[in-house]
Amino acid sequence: MQQLNNKQILLGVTGGIAAYKAAELIRRLQDHGANVRVVMTKAAQEFITPLTLQALSGNPVHTDLLNPEAEAAMGHIELARWADLVLVAPASADFMARLAHGEAGDLLTTLCLATHAGIAIAPAMNQGMWRDPSTQANLQTLIDRQVAILGPAEGSQACGDIGPGRMLEAADIAALAAAQFQSGSLDGVKLVITAGPTREAIDPVRYISNHSSGKMGFALATAAVEAGASVTLIAGPVALATPERVTRINVESADQMHQAALAELGHCDIFIGAAAVADYRPANIAEQKIKKNDDNMTIALVRNPDIIAAVASHPQRPFAIGFAAETQDVLSYARGKLKNKNLDLIIANDVSDSRIGFNSDDNAVTVVAETSETAIAIASKQQLARQLLAVIAEHYYAKNVK
Ligand code: PMT
Repeated sequence: MQQLNNKQILLGVTGGIAAYKAAELIRRLQDHGANVRVVMTKAAQEFITPLTLQALSGNPVHTDLLNPEAEAAMGHIELARWADLVLVAPASADFMARLAHGEAGDLLTTLCLATHAGIAIAPAMNQGMWRDPSTQANLQTLIDRQVAILGPAEGSQACGDIGPGRMLEAADIAALAAAQFQSGSLDGVKLVITAGPTREAIDPVRYISNHSSGKMGFALATAAVEAGASVTLIAGPVALATPERVTRINVESADQMHQAALAELGHCDIFIGAAAVADYRPANIAEQKIKKNDDNMTIALVRNPDIIAAVASHPQRPFAIGFAAETQDVLSYARGKLKNKNLDLIIANDVSDSRIGFNSDDNAVTVVAETSETAIAIASKQQLARQLLAVIAEHYYAKNVK
């Protein structure tokens, strides 16, 4: 299985003889379906050329923090945001020290500070350097900060020594990188997620709808499966592929979404309403295409059922989470919906900002609970979905002891 399908891996290469293995690592990451961009330190370029890694990754290699041309193409903050995982392999003793001390003297360390993505490192160094108390203290700091440490392996080293400090093989690093996305935080939990718009027919050729692309709901479904949940995705009409291991139910109208949602209750632990459900539908659907006879026309509309409110008031009520798409007074309207719809959480989404919300690739939200608010900064919908599920899992287990 391509466990890194559509994942964006920023591969950092630091100076050490194992840098040549970065070439094979790119291939192994790509075998898992990853899109790879490479950042090299100055020392790394003494061991392998940027051109080699550029040819293999299919993307320009980034080497400088203060290069205006490179910054114009893809700035360091943009790169930090692009990454779903920052993987540093090989990670030298010097790099580990600089990372542990929060230095930002070159592009790679700066990215590590700026990114919201997870960081994993594959150390590679002489066994004496690895065993040195300074390196071990830096290692502990990094572990405490949730940096994933991949390896090192033991064995014969380039310098002739034998001991710990060899970089893991590329295939093992790629498999461990894939495992970073499988958090297990929702193991055995059943999730139902609605996504996309609904379409409310006016006549056989026209409908009322909105700009929801489904990206947010589909990203949540992918992240939930990675977190160990079993996921049913009730999708309005969108042009997105079904994420692996997700059961998809396609619907068109709010009425159909309502029926599909109620049918899932009883075998659902968490329900997330990410769909942009049309609040109204035409009172009557014309059987034939409506002809344009008059200058003006009026369509009578009736209210659609409120799906998330129906779920939250059902006798088999799951942990219920809504989204609030707002253009003003975002948090206060979101709080109102939390209360009125009897939800456990509401995710406030400021859709007045075109960089986030409807049909954008990025999003930024605030998770609103009865007594707390957790802001999640702008990130790709995939990254944001993982962060969002971590917050959701915390609230879910606080209410439903694991
Ligand atoms: O799909 P994308 O392009 O990725 O965009 C993502 C998104 C902006 C659509 C998504 O993040 C979002 O905000 N979804 C909710 C949109 C919305 O309809 O918000 P609302 O404030 O009108 O509704 C509040 C909640 O009630 C939502 O959970 C909604 O699913 C639910 N609802 C609304 C009306 C209705 N009749 N039934 C419902 O269940």
